[in-house]
Amino acid sequence: MGDNSVPQARYFLLREKNGVKYIKKTLLVFFLASLLIASAVCAFGILLLRNGFIFTRRHSFTYYKEFHDHSFYRAVSYSKLPENNITIPKISNRPIKSPKIDNYRLVCYYNFPNRSFNLERQLTHKRLDPDLCTHVNVGFGSIQNNTIYLSDYNRNVTRNVSALKAKNKNLKVLLSISGFADSGFAEMVQNHANRKMFIKSMLSYVKEFKLDGIDLDWEFPNADVYNSKERMHFTQLLYEIREEINRQKKHKFLLTVAVASPYFIAMNSYDISYMNDYVDFINLMTYDFHFYTKWTPFTGINSPLYSLPHDIGIFGTLNINYSAHFWMSQGMEKNKINIGLPTYGHTYKLINPNNNGISAPAIGFGNLGHNGFIDYSEVCAFLSESKVLPNFDDVSKSPYATHYQDWISYDDIKSLSFKAEYIRENNFGGAMVYSLNSDDYTGDCADIKNDPSQTYPLIRQIRDILLDPNL
Ligand SMILES: *[C@@H]1O[C@H](CO)[C@@H](O)[C@H](O)[C@H]1NC(C)=O
Ligand SMILES: *[C@@H]1O[C@H](CO)[C@@H](O)[C@H](O)[C@H]1NC(C)=O
Ligand SMILES: *[C@@H]1O[C@H](CO)[C@@H](O)[C@H](O)[C@H]1NC(C)=O
Ligand SMILES: *[C@@H]1O[C@H](CO)[C@@H](O)[C@H](O)[C@H]1NC(C)=O
Ligand SMILES: *[C@@H]1O[C@H](CO)[C@@H](O)[C@H](O)[C@H]1NC(C)=O
Ligand SMILES: *[C@@H]1O[C@H](CO)[C@@H](O)[C@H](O)[C@H]1NC(C)=O
Repeated sequence: MGDNSVPQARYFLLREKNGVKYIKKTLLVFFLASLLIASAVCAFGILLLRNGFIFTRRHSFTYYKEFHDHSFYRAVSYSKLPENNITIPKISNRPIKSPKIDNYRLVCYYNFPNRSFNLERQLTHKRLDPDLCTHVNVGFGSIQNNTIYLSDYNRNVTRNVSALKAKNKNLKVLLSISGFADSGFAEMVQNHANRKMFIKSMLSYVKEFKLDGIDLDWEFPNADVYNSKERMHFTQLLYEIREEINRQKKHKFLLTVAVASPYFIAMNSYDISYMNDYVDFINLMTYDFHFYTKWTPFTGINSPLYSLPHDIGIFGTLNINYSAHFWMSQGMEKNKINIGLPTYGHTYKLINPNNNGISAPAIGFGNLGHNGFIDYSEVCAFLSESKVLPNFDDVSKSPYATHYQDWISYDDIKSLSFKAEYIRENNFGGAMVYSLNSDDYTGDCADIKNDPSQTYPLIRQIRDILLDPNL
């Protein structure tokens, strides 16, 4: 006790002697600490704003402009999960009555030759098989000054694809018009006069190119703007086109729409029950459910049929089955829904090659493919060269393959068989395939080269299941 009292007394003495100095020092430390905390709060705020708000809303648009590809833009859009606490719609499993289908649709997108993911593989109209699909959607035209625009070269391609109908009387050829959120669509739908100009140009394209219809692929109404009237105006456009088709005596043609499958985009972009009244059918883009972005930095299946057990919350909605049921629950008739099936896959670069399952951490696009997209022909070349044995996930009914840091999700004959069977069992209107270009149209994956029955193996498999009268 006695020993302790000495330093304590000295301490008090010191404190009293240096009292003023002590207070000054404390104030200085306090001031510096507040400054530090304030800047930390500021930095955190900026980070939050960039990542949660400005980043997701704006940065992605510079992305798509750089790559100038609407598939890339869609994959990024699907990955922007809603920021607000949106309640996930509960969907009843009650079967929805629909007439039995005896003619399934097989709608195949054909990209103009220099719009492929792999620019070194350009599918020309000469390699198209007029008996493969029931509908070919040629794309993509754009909208300029409220009218359809096609370059001279693409007009020639469209004319040549339309000429395939001479070889198959039942084949339907449609022109697909696409645009990003803030494209010519936004301006065109705004008012009656603009829509009228567009519809007039539609009619002249249908006549000039002997088309069977027009497919609209606006990705997506109301996507980039809050409180916008774009959804309503888009519905109005569909109504006015339907009225125009009803007025046509000779040139009746199909009106179809390629639509977003995630419910959080669909709810925002479309009046689904009205759309049901005006369109002949929809092409549900049930792919790009998982894609590498800065806010989804993990591996995932491009087009899972069902959700995986670890898919909680919103992730449980990112699959074919949920999306198709969501669209039906909102009033789209089952037989107007074509389920989208991809012939391409997505690539990722793993952080740790040993952590290589589904939902493993990723740091970017894989070395394979092009900006995260890979054609089936490249997938099978890679599998045979690397001797990699792919995995097959029995829940999502999809294969994936991994090789050092590379990870790919894709579809093959087996996965597409499950998905085509699903369409039959549930009596949907048919399948939509994206795209003819990314299937193995040269038949290089097969053992027997130059055998026409070996070309387009993926689409041919879907066709066999949906359209073979013997099955
Ligand atoms: C989200 O919303 C639901 C219902 O609207 C509510 O029950 C839940 O507590 C909310 N969750 C959060 C994290 O705010
Ligand atoms: C398919 O979706 C419906 C509606 O959400 C759901 O009730 C059903 O369980 C799903 N099927 C499977 C196998 O997950
Ligand atoms: C596509 O190919 C045509 C003909 O080779 C060319 O005129 C056109 O500029 C190309 N377009 C693009 C976007 O590369
Ligand atoms: C669209 O209109 C603008 C202004 O009138 C004109 O400069 C441009 O050439 C037009 N573009 C097309 C493709 O007609
Ligand atoms: C389109 O076809 C016409 C007629 O065959 C031809 O004169 C023209 O050069 C072609 N244009 C392009 C860009 O290929
Ligand atoms: C269209 O077909 C004609 C006749 O086969 C051919 O000469 C022309 O090059 C084709 N044009 C395009 C753009 O494919």
